[in-house]
Amino acid sequence: MNAIAAVNALQYIGKQGDLLYSIQEDMAFFVAKTRGKTVVMGRKTLLSLPGGKGLKGRKNFVLSRSMSDGEAEERGVLIARDVDSLFSLLRDLGSPEEDVFVIGGGEIYSLLMPYCSVLYVTRILREDEGETRFPEIPSDFTLTKGDLRRSGEIEYRFDTYVKNR
Ligand SMILES: NC(=O)c1ccc[n+]([C@@H]2O[C@H](COP(=O)([O-])OP(=O)(O)OC[C@H]3O[C@@H](n4cnc5c(N)ncnc54)[C@H](OP(=O)(O)O)[C@@H]3O)[C@@H](O)[C@H]2O)c1
Repeated sequence: MNAIAAVNALQYIGKQGDLLYSIQEDMAFFVAKTRGKTVVMGRKTLLSLPGGKGLKGRKNFVLSRSMSDGEAEERGVLIARDVDSLFSLLRDLGSPEEDVFVIGGGEIYSLLMPYCSVLYVTRILREDEGETRFPEIPSDFTLTKGDLRRSGEIEYRFDTYVKNR
């Protein structure tokens, strides 16, 4: 299982239920990594997606205790009520562990970080205030920093953290 996130210099990933930044190249990176794969998200992140629907071209799993099965079907997602049932559904699907991407938000990154082998973290080099944070990355990950890039005023980097075996 992997995680993919865009995180600013204050560790923020979101504000008022939405993303803090919209960087075209980062969106393209996200699409390239997750296309044809399985994504796992929290209910609040699902509601922040266009139309509140699962992402096209990917199998969408949502963690939620409150969303009804009917609503999940309408939104084009499969629901897991807890971590154990998520893993059991993923096993039933037979999708290899490296093809599963945790896509947020804050609660779900925290919940699933212990199971992640690779973290794709777009580091946005800005200190804007937000509300939702990315969890602290445990010390048993090795960081490879990407090159510095720029989108208008925003500097960013594609970093990769790989869990030590
Ligand atoms: N920058 C990025 O890369 C990025 C990526 C994704 C999201 N975001 C941002 O992050 C924010 C949303 O994050 P968030 O932390 O508020 O919410 P979230 O993690 O998306 O969803 C939280 C919900 O997940 C469900 N949940 C949590 N733990 C669970 C468990 N153990 N079992 C079953 N369900 C569980 C609960 O749903 P119920 O209440 O239904 O039980 C909970 O309300 C938004 O601002 C979004 O834009 C940023």
